[in-house]
Amino acid sequence: MTDVHTPMQQSKLQNYNSNRGAAAYRADYQNKLHRKWSDRRERALLSRYFQTIGLVESILDLPCGHGRLSGFLQQRCKRLIEADWSFSMVSLSRKDSSKDAHGHMRCSALEIPLPDRSVEVALSFRLSHHLETQELRERHLRELFRVSNQAVVVTWFSASSLKNRLRQLRTMLTGKKPKNVMVNDRVRAIATELGFRQQAAKPLFLIGSGHVVGLFTRDPAK
Ligand SMILES: C[S@@+](CC[C@H](N)C(=O)[O-])C[C@H]1O[C@@H](n2cnc3c(N)ncnc32)[C@H](O)[C@@H]1O
Repeated sequence: MTDVHTPMQQSKLQNYNSNRGAAAYRADYQNKLHRKWSDRRERALLSRYFQTIGLVESILDLPCGHGRLSGFLQQRCKRLIEADWSFSMVSLSRKDSSKDAHGHMRCSALEIPLPDRSVEVALSFRLSHHLETQELRERHLRELFRVSNQAVVVTWFSASSLKNRLRQLRTMLTGKKPKNVMVNDRVRAIATELGFRQQAAKPLFLIGSGHVVGLFTRDPAK
């Protein structure tokens, strides 16, 4: 796999790919209050979205990280595929998993090694804002829509969020690096182009986070 498949800031990527970094990411969700809050809010939104999606045959969780959402997702499908670029993340998630109907793979979210429409639900949490260019963020999004036969649940960092507006100010004043954002209308336009309808796009929090969690379902006519 070359750098083009993992275009995240190298230091961050090395951290996720190390055993220590993967274990630290998991520990954060067990110990840090803000991580626990966002985990709770993400699960609440996901529960609501799965009322629309229903119980499905298969879900792809990419990137799965250490398998934070795997218990939740296993209850909503017959077959869960957890995938990540980081070997350490995949093996942590594998160690923690119990069910047989649970596959793991190491792959890039920019070139998913699955055929078109091969899973019912494609899910991507907390990757988009790590991808360094607009082209890469859109490529990832397109891959999710390509492999999904029914629904896509995806997070992105919204250009119109308060957190991004404040960052834009800091970028102007202090030269701080801009956030890797997406414009909500552009996300919806890509979904429409690829045969999906936006059902929801809820902010994780209005203050303190710029993440949006979107639900898209395949238009039956397409
Ligand atoms: C912030 S973590 C999110 C993990 C999980 N979705 C969660 O919400 O807990 C970002 C993950 O993206 C993975 N990653 C980074 N670039 C990737 C790529 N191009 N393809 C697949 N996974 C990637 C990292 O290894 C890391 O596990």
